[in-house]
Amino acid sequence: MEKIKIGIVGLGKLGWKHAENIAHKIPHAELIAACSATEEKIEKAKKELGITYGYTNYEKMVQNPEIDAIAIISPSKYHYEHIELALKNGKHIFCEKPLALTLEECEKIEKLVKEYPHLYFMLGFMRRFDESYAYAKQKIDEGLIGKPFMIRCYGLDPIDLVDVAIPFAKTSGGLYLDMMIHDIDLARWYLQSEGKTAYALGGCYVRDEFAQYNDIDNGVALIEFDNGSIGMFYAGRTCAHGYHIETEIIGTKGSLRIGTTPDKNMTSIFNENGVVKECCSSFLERFEQAYFNEVNYFINCLIHKERPSVKVSDGVLSTKIAYACQKSLDEKSIITI
Ligand SMILES: NC(=O)c1ccc[n+]([C@@H]2O[C@H](COP(=O)([O-])OP(=O)(O)OC[C@H]3O[C@@H](n4cnc5c(N)ncnc54)[C@H](O)[C@@H]3O)[C@@H](O)[C@H]2O)c1
Repeated sequence: MEKIKIGIVGLGKLGWKHAENIAHKIPHAELIAACSATEEKIEKAKKELGITYGYTNYEKMVQNPEIDAIAIISPSKYHYEHIELALKNGKHIFCEKPLALTLEECEKIEKLVKEYPHLYFMLGFMRRFDESYAYAKQKIDEGLIGKPFMIRCYGLDPIDLVDVAIPFAKTSGGLYLDMMIHDIDLARWYLQSEGKTAYALGGCYVRDEFAQYNDIDNGVALIEFDNGSIGMFYAGRTCAHGYHIETEIIGTKGSLRIGTTPDKNMTSIFNENGVVKECCSSFLERFEQAYFNEVNYFINCLIHKERPSVKVSDGVLSTKIAYACQKSLDEKSIITI
């Protein structure tokens, strides 16, 4: 069977996970190249992932004619540049969220992608590939809860990782664009509607250091969608009990909840602390299977020549909403999107 040859850029927290999946787990993919800012990571990738080509210069990697597709897992501030160079060099693209750090860049990317219709582009909104979220979508589409008109989302990172989150905030785009964007994408997907108005509130309640990057550690947003449905969102970076991702979708005939308590697994520990359910610790643990599923799906799209379902427009439209939230926070007013 044909194998799609991949070059990956960014071998950090998530990049390494994707690289491992592509190198060792995805049947029809072969990781042949990697680009990192540091030589050590390249050497590690040669040893542990068996890559043939290592680069510290991204432009050189995308010029390699053996590579079919690029996985862009670099810091978000590079996404625009990395997408543009990949397209210009004839590569299909899987790119991590967010699409880019400004709305102008997102719109330029959308235009560029349209100029290369023979190249496939997919954005990594991995929750759509999580078994529970995909199951909920199927049940909603089957009409089990009637017409959905409200969504409530919690997206909370653990306090244990806050010291990593502070320097990351410098180039992340902020809480709304970097974190809440996952929930915003889910809301668009489940409610089948686009954002109309946004109102956001938040602040640095636990760690003041986020303020130096014009960021916050906990924030909420209330979003009205074009079809009249409502979204209530809470994102935070200081969750005491672990990584807590919870979603509720409310419809005219019922509701659905995903991840009501963020259990690590089905084990309950009965001891001097009472009945203890351990909590999921990070995004890599909670969405491990989804990260595999989304790239495996992308590879299958390339093999079967089917356009991926998560499109560049999903990145643009979600970013528009996330930006309105940030603007609302900054201006302390309701923003029309
Ligand atoms: N879908 C998700 O759930 C999810 C989760 C985490 C991160 N992300 C996204 O993935 C991307 C990477 O995040 P991360 O957490 O792995 O970041 P990270 O900071 O851990 O890793 C980034 C890596 O890129 C390298 N790098 C920096 N500049 C580079 C360049 N010009 N060329 C090549 N490599 C370069 C750095 O050395 C680092 O190893 C971000 O866009 C982030 O938003 C998505």
